[in-house]
Amino acid sequence: MVLGGPPPKTLITPALFSRPLPTPHTGRRGRQARTHQPGTPLPVWGVGRGREKRAGVRVLGGGDLPGAKFAPSPDTLREVPTLRQLLAEARPLLAATPFGAPPREALLLLGHVLGWSEAQVLARGETEVPEAAEARFRDLLARRLTGEPTAYLLGEREFWRRSFQVDSRVLIPRPETEHLVEEALAETLPDRPWILDVGAGSGILAVTLALEISGARVAATDLSAGALAVTAGNARRLGAAVRLVRTDLTAGLDLARFDLVVSNPPYIDPAEAPSLSPEVRDFEPALALFAPGSGDSVLARLFAECAALRPGVRLAVEIGFGQLGAARRHAESAGLEFLRVRNDYAGIPRVLVLQRR
Ligand SMILES: C[S@@+](CC[C@H](N)C(=O)[O-])C[C@H]1O[C@@H](n2cnc3c(N)ncnc32)[C@H](O)[C@@H]1O
Repeated sequence: MVLGGPPPKTLITPALFSRPLPTPHTGRRGRQARTHQPGTPLPVWGVGRGREKRAGVRVLGGGDLPGAKFAPSPDTLREVPTLRQLLAEARPLLAATPFGAPPREALLLLGHVLGWSEAQVLARGETEVPEAAEARFRDLLARRLTGEPTAYLLGEREFWRRSFQVDSRVLIPRPETEHLVEEALAETLPDRPWILDVGAGSGILAVTLALEISGARVAATDLSAGALAVTAGNARRLGAAVRLVRTDLTAGLDLARFDLVVSNPPYIDPAEAPSLSPEVRDFEPALALFAPGSGDSVLARLFAECAALRPGVRLAVEIGFGQLGAARRHAESAGLEFLRVRNDYAGIPRVLVLQRR
């Protein structure tokens, strides 16, 4: 018996996955789908000239199998990497991106592909990765290296302790938008209040308020049909009743019915686009980011429409960096009284609470 040496490798079998293995992906790496199934004996193929031994795959010369005529497939010459090897390969690539992707994201992507937690991936570093999972991981990594945000690759982002599904049709939820929820929850509202979310996106505000405020009746608008589809999916999955309206801001709605309005409208000036991170500028929807003309144009229109609220009804709205002065001026001219402003984690004025005079 031989003692010592490297720990034995584990071959992942489908039974170890908490969800089915992704289907073999061949696109970006230009491979053909292999026929070998993880967990079954590895194939032995002839390769013509020479003889190779690669980790996890026995490759024999044609002469090893008498009489056999082989059509060698390079696809069968597969290194079987361990989790640790894939992580070691990916981390420096992420760290070298011009947008400074955290190397830890390698763990997130690998865990996502395997259906494992980060801790599980770390603890099982010597586990061999089946080809389909490796291909899926490499595909996600390649997309991440182009700047595609991790939230889109994972298909979800947490907000207010719930997981929201996101894709390229919606803005990725930002932590500072939780301040808007805090301000909304601090309001005293009538029983079964009507709440309106303008510019729903993934539905984080509408769904969160519908679930956090007992008896709330929530409506959400968006100009984007794609965004409303994402809101609908999140509302259904999280068990929130939200009425969806595809419209320009509040057009067509009877604002006098609502007891609270919340909104995180687009507020970036299009002139600032060149200075944005490519992760944001090139991947998140322009409709969600940019206010046409100038950064405060949507805020100004929204405030003007909120003149139709009942006196005393409040509006909690997220604003951009440096927009407090302009937002207060627009509010004043729309008959909305400034009540308070909430700074974000960076100390930037971020959420404005206004009241219809
Ligand atoms: C900054 S995103 C906010 C999304 C979500 N509420 C959040 O906080 O993550 C703004 C949203 O407003 C929508 N939007 C942009 N212009 C609009 C308009 N004129 N009327 C209605 N919705 C609009 C966009 O499609 C986008 O979903």
